[in-house]
Amino acid sequence: MSESIIVYKANNHLEASSCLSNLIIEDIKSANKNCYSIGLSGGNTPKVTYSMLKNDIEDLSKILFWTVDERWVPIDNENSNQNLINSFFSTSDAQILNVEFTNTSADEDAQAYSKKLQDSISEFDTVILGVGEDGHIASLFPGTKAIQNKDDLYVSNEVNIVTQWRVTATHKLLASAKNVYLLVTGENKKAILKTILDNGTTPANELIKNRKETILITDQSI
Ligand code: 6PG
Repeated sequence: MSESIIVYKANNHLEASSCLSNLIIEDIKSANKNCYSIGLSGGNTPKVTYSMLKNDIEDLSKILFWTVDERWVPIDNENSNQNLINSFFSTSDAQILNVEFTNTSADEDAQAYSKKLQDSISEFDTVILGVGEDGHIASLFPGTKAIQNKDDLYVSNEVNIVTQWRVTATHKLLASAKNVYLLVTGENKKAILKTILDNGTTPANELIKNRKETILITDQSI
């Protein structure tokens, strides 16, 4: 596959966030669907974008948000990505597919969410991904088991970063999405950005290799 990565260079984080929000809103309009799905990551980078999407999407009732990855914690835990997503969208008209935390088995919770996704989403329209300084995306951290999973859409993954367990979309799911946006901003991401653009061997690069096209938005110049 001749994969391609399209880079949008912004002057700062706000401009990068606005660029991403505008690209997504444009695609929502052109898709003209009654249920447009958007996968949301945790972390800090996408928060400004989420705020813009909340304010600027014309009809949030036509949007279904799902959770790209979740630290395996109760929803009221400060580390919960579901908590972060709900803080932006739970009072809106959007539909939110919550990851359920049972505190019995991360594997069972991942399987339950995988079923929920497949029952609720016919096409993964857009996914917003941050990128860690080690090149991880979602909870697909270098050297962890989930990186190798080629069969499932959503799995548990033992990472021992912030939490022992995570539940996460896999490369298979992320590769299948119509649009994937990597939002990579801040001085601290300059080095990993260079690695990614130099055809590195990070999980972000693995995803890019598995897709025809991936869009990367950054405020860093390489
Ligand atoms: C998480 C995220 C993770 C995040 C990166 C970047 O659960 O933490 O889903 O993949 O996107 O770690 O995080 P920042 O945006 O905070 O740099």
